[in-house]
Amino acid sequence: MKKKILLTRRWTQDAESYLSEHYDVTLNASDVPLDAAALSQAMRDYDAICPTVTDAMNAAVLGTPGARVKLIGNFGVGYNHIDVEAARKAGITVTNTPDVLTDTTADLAILLMLMATRRAGEGERELRAGRWTGWRPTHMMGQSVSGKTLGVVGFGRIAQATAHRAHHGFGMQVAYYGRRRAPADIEAACKARYVADLDTLVAESDVLTLHCPGGAETHHLVNRARLALMKPTAVLVNTARGTVVDEAALAEALVTKRIAAAGLDVYEREPVVNPALLGLENVVLLPHLGSGTQETRTAMGMRVARNVDLFFAGQPVQDKVV
Ligand code: DGY
Repeated sequence: MKKKILLTRRWTQDAESYLSEHYDVTLNASDVPLDAAALSQAMRDYDAICPTVTDAMNAAVLGTPGARVKLIGNFGVGYNHIDVEAARKAGITVTNTPDVLTDTTADLAILLMLMATRRAGEGERELRAGRWTGWRPTHMMGQSVSGKTLGVVGFGRIAQATAHRAHHGFGMQVAYYGRRRAPADIEAACKARYVADLDTLVAESDVLTLHCPGGAETHHLVNRARLALMKPTAVLVNTARGTVVDEAALAEALVTKRIAAAGLDVYEREPVVNPALLGLENVVLLPHLGSGTQETRTAMGMRVARNVDLFFAGQPVQDKVV
């Protein structure tokens, strides 16, 4: 009998088709996120659930009495929405989708950096509103990134790919902070300099880009005190998780011009965005588009499928979280 699998959201057609051919798959045709009760029911009804960042796979859901699920095949590299300890206790395997979204997400970090430093959102809004009066030498001047310091927080795959682009594509100096220093060859690939103290990195960065995981350990890592350490010309970029930044403190820093600008792809309470940010010209706000290309979203779905295939074939999964 085919294994029963639930995809909690719409995936690309290629990925949905592949899984539907091989398993008894339930698709979420309406693409509306499932609530806790529906996720708990799914824990009883399926062999595997393939959730994503919009699904709170918390201890209550994972500990559902009478649960049948043995695999959580997450669609996405970040898994802070899954209580991995609860999964471990319940004997449930959790997988994610690293590698396949690295370049796409790094591209988006660079996009946000350039949009924020070059005031692209502000410029587009001016033009569309019919407020542009023509070229002039002092019109909407932004900041150059060449020769500036990119401070990178966390130095995993996406961080390294962002640093590589910034150094080789835009002539930036790269400095990074992480729990561990990276091997010499990884540092050499983009001439990255390790800074052992986060506050020092924050203070010396012209652009600070966040690439650490979400969760309790990094909650409000960028808070009012750290924003106060930043240069007044500095730009903050967040493609990691919204909870890493205290949004209210950031809005205040942007209003008072404590920092120059920010580019955000992720938010503390998605899809709600702090209203204090919405009216500001000096922040670029994207709707969690980091991995959002046709190619990458298909590759993510196929990466989940690979883990599902291996798991139900009784082989070690490729991307085991727990
Ligand atoms: C990821 O892969 O972590 C994306 O942010 C979506 O969850």
